[in-house]
Amino acid sequence: MSYIYHFNDGSQLDIIQDLNGNSGIGSTVWDSSLILCKFFEKNPSLLLKKNVVYELGSGTGISGLVLGMIMENLKRSQTKKVQITLTDKEVALSLIKLNLNNLLTKYNSNLKSVDFNVTKLDWLEKGVGYDVADLIILTDCVHWENLFDPLIETLSNLSQKSVTEIYLVYEQRNFDCEAKFFIKLSNKFKFSLVNNSELDPVFRAEDIFVFKIEKKI
Ligand SMILES: C[S@@+](CC[C@H](N)C(=O)[O-])C[C@H]1O[C@@H](n2cnc3c(N)ncnc32)[C@H](O)[C@@H]1O
Repeated sequence: MSYIYHFNDGSQLDIIQDLNGNSGIGSTVWDSSLILCKFFEKNPSLLLKKNVVYELGSGTGISGLVLGMIMENLKRSQTKKVQITLTDKEVALSLIKLNLNNLLTKYNSNLKSVDFNVTKLDWLEKGVGYDVADLIILTDCVHWENLFDPLIETLSNLSQKSVTEIYLVYEQRNFDCEAKFFIKLSNKFKFSLVNNSELDPVFRAEDIFVFKIEKKI
């Protein structure tokens, strides 16, 4: 069954979900991703100077694809296309590719400003030569304590002080566990909570938090 994402301009994007769960835990659209998408729809200027974008733990791919469409519609003066790389574990990649292909079919593969890539990036495996990103997004990816170190290492490998902005959104499920993530994160990164007033007035929730994160060393 598809999730239909409604853009504020009335257009929509169908995101295919895998209700049998064959694509892993990201087989369906998680609420945090919607809050991130709507946050960027409300604040598109945050994307104006971003050229190399990574999404970690993309699941269905919804956040990266919506972000790409927002960037496609921004009036950008440059001729160079934005590179948006949607990543996840191997098991999730076919679903992300399916959703990307549907988007490209809808737009006749004719995007002027954005190039999408889908690639495996498993936090537990050593990365091979990824670019430094100027924007990284990730939603609902901080629930597993055993993955905190490799996830932070992955963020560190993709980011650079004063260059990279990271937007992380998660739904609070286990405060003690999630607090441990931020304690570990603070060794290398500084972070701040995005104020509710900056979020979409409808797509916000008391237990879903949007953090902006930057490398400090
Ligand atoms: C709760 S889902 C969220 C999916 C998507 N971001 C969303 O909000 O709809 C967590 C995602 O993290 C991914 N993930 C889990 N462990 C991972 C790992 N070791 N490396 C990369 N991605 C991982 C899962 O495959 C899944 O897509």
